[in-house]
Amino acid sequence: MSTDEFPTDRPAVVTCGLPYANGDLHIGHLRGYIGADAFDRALRTLGQQSAYVCGSDMHGTPVAVNAEKEGVEPEEFALRWHEQYEETFPRFNVEFDNYGHTHDEANTETTTEIVRTLDEEGYIYEKEIQVAYDPEADQYLPDRYVEGTCPYCGAKARGDECDEGCQRHLEPGEVEDPRSSITGNPAEYRERAHKFFRVSAFEEFLTDFLDDLEGTSNARNQPRQWIEEGLQDWCITRDMDWGIDYPGEADDDLVLYVWVDAPIEYISSTKQYTDRVGDETYDWEQVWKGEGDIVHVIGRDIIQHHTIFWPAMLEGAGYNTPRAVAATGFITINGKGLSTSRNRAIWATEYLEEGFHPDLLRYYLMTTGGLQQDVDFSWDAFQETVNGDLVGVVGNFWYRSLLFAYRNYEGTPEVDVSSDVESRINGALEQFREAVNDYSLRGVGAAATDLARFGNEYIQRNEPWKLTDDDPEEAAQVIRDCVQIAKAVGVLLDPIAPDKAQALWDQIGEDGDVADATLEDALESPPRSFDEPGELFAKIEDDRVAELNEKLEQRVAEAADDEDDETESDDTDADEREDVTATDDLEPLLEDRISFEQFQELDIRVGRIEEAEGIEGADDLARLEVDIGLESRQVVAGIKQLHDLEELPGTKVILLANMEPAELFGVESNGMILAAGEEADLLTTHDDADLGEKIK
Ligand code: 2FM
Ligand code: ZN
Repeated sequence: MSTDEFPTDRPAVVTCGLPYANGDLHIGHLRGYIGADAFDRALRTLGQQSAYVCGSDMHGTPVAVNAEKEGVEPEEFALRWHEQYEETFPRFNVEFDNYGHTHDEANTETTTEIVRTLDEEGYIYEKEIQVAYDPEADQYLPDRYVEGTCPYCGAKARGDECDEGCQRHLEPGEVEDPRSSITGNPAEYRERAHKFFRVSAFEEFLTDFLDDLEGTSNARNQPRQWIEEGLQDWCITRDMDWGIDYPGEADDDLVLYVWVDAPIEYISSTKQYTDRVGDETYDWEQVWKGEGDIVHVIGRDIIQHHTIFWPAMLEGAGYNTPRAVAATGFITINGKGLSTSRNRAIWATEYLEEGFHPDLLRYYLMTTGGLQQDVDFSWDAFQETVNGDLVGVVGNFWYRSLLFAYRNYEGTPEVDVSSDVESRINGALEQFREAVNDYSLRGVGAAATDLARFGNEYIQRNEPWKLTDDDPEEAAQVIRDCVQIAKAVGVLLDPIAPDKAQALWDQIGEDGDVADATLEDALESPPRSFDEPGELFAKIEDDRVAELNEKLEQRVAEAADDEDDETESDDTDADEREDVTATDDLEPLLEDRISFEQFQELDIRVGRIEEAEGIEGADDLARLEVDIGLESRQVVAGIKQLHDLEELPGTKVILLANMEPAELFGVESNGMILAAGEEADLLTTHDDADLGEKIK
């Protein structure tokens, strides 16, 4: 691993966390795959050799449980989803160089080889442990077959992860009060021999690894805490028959834990790519065993797997370790948590069926969330971004300048680009380069849009339409500059909106693919002549947005109906109450004024709820864990009845940080979140305020 800036002279591989082959893709998945795709494209634009590989995650209980519900074999079930993913990703311009799956021969072979090496190197041992067992179903209960309480934070947890609480990986036997998710009965613990990977032997290596790791701050910082708490060895086998057999023990019922063979697919998929194109074109071995730049894009819930277990496995088996791990933030829909069971999601196929171009969603997701920031999707915000940035800025600039060039010069005027505009374009190229090195796709998008904004100002300021008769040379100069700016915007926008950038490329008469262009090409002269341009973006009208909002609201309501009729009537009451609020009901304003100094004594910060759970025995109180940038605060709030606690994680809130600590129902409250009115409408921010920013 190295800290050389991109582009390096080594090959890179960009990966994205493998999707479990067990259900429809939605916007939460897409932001990751689009993010990694855009990052890979941006590296190529910098001139770095790069491959983008991934595959479907076929094994484990997430797939087995869903296959069982459908009454089909896991292999048949997972392959069906795998094929659907293979078809869907390209429709969002997510173009993998290789997309395999974890159950294929290549991955079985690589996994077996790696586990054998770890065993030979003394990193694997066998130990008797307590494993949850369902006597009625007469089977062991790995991972999602068991539910209970997280021993670390007390939240409801699955057998292998605290998915609703602290997000920790849980080892077999750790979950408290285990219940079988097959029969709902309490499970019992039985002793059983399993294989363990000696993660504890890698403490020093992992500490150094994290010092050098690049990517997003959450992925670089969170694992330090786990190391400080002490690394536990990791159980790498499960009592199941769906998975990759533990090498050499094929007669046993043990398979490898899904989290062993899943990341190994990153390597297997890269190998498959090399097998297809030849190692003179792309050498998987150089990347994974020699000098290469490995970049993983993942969800924030799987940081521990990618920054602790995975690098330890790679190091133990003699492979190269990642240069960067970029963990994406939360995604909410209309300010509320994405929920597939409540149908509060934007489904991949639904988006396409609405007839929107994939590049619009790519642009929205990358410029609001990029690789790390939280994204709130709403059709209104989507419309605002498309109409504002893409139609109003980029599309408007491209169309007006190229049309003027076509009508007056039948293409690019025959003069050199001015030195002022050349240096402005150079500034944009530098902005792009820095953004890629900061793993900021928002920055990549901004480099393109800011340059187009400059183009609009430039043409407006110079008014070439007034110069064609009086000063034809100056008019030609302005338009020549604009065509160059248009071309550069195309090169810079390609990672995020590849189809639209290609359409621009074709319009200015360039041959070949804009995807093959590098930053240097942005300053090469465009061809002399081109055809009449067309408009590349269309405005989204208000009534279309109203229709989309209605559809979304309706299906969320239908899902709620199915789930709980009671909730529906409660919600309706709340809505009606909101509408009839009258000024008579408002508390009178206070007479006493405070000074600005007194206000400044309040330390009010932007925070984000990370965990939310009810406090046992208290009707109204909830325990929240709020990240305020500088630290995490436990807060007790009287919102248990007023908010759906499951939906709160990810919500940005405003927190009074210097509130005196208090203890409520035995739980310490260290701050106060601000809320309005009887319904505790939580105060939030509406733009990009970072966690920890002070309210002034
Ligand atoms: O959490 C998940 O959805 C897993 N399927 C991700 C696997 S990523 C990897 F390591 F391969
Ligand atoms: Zn927990």
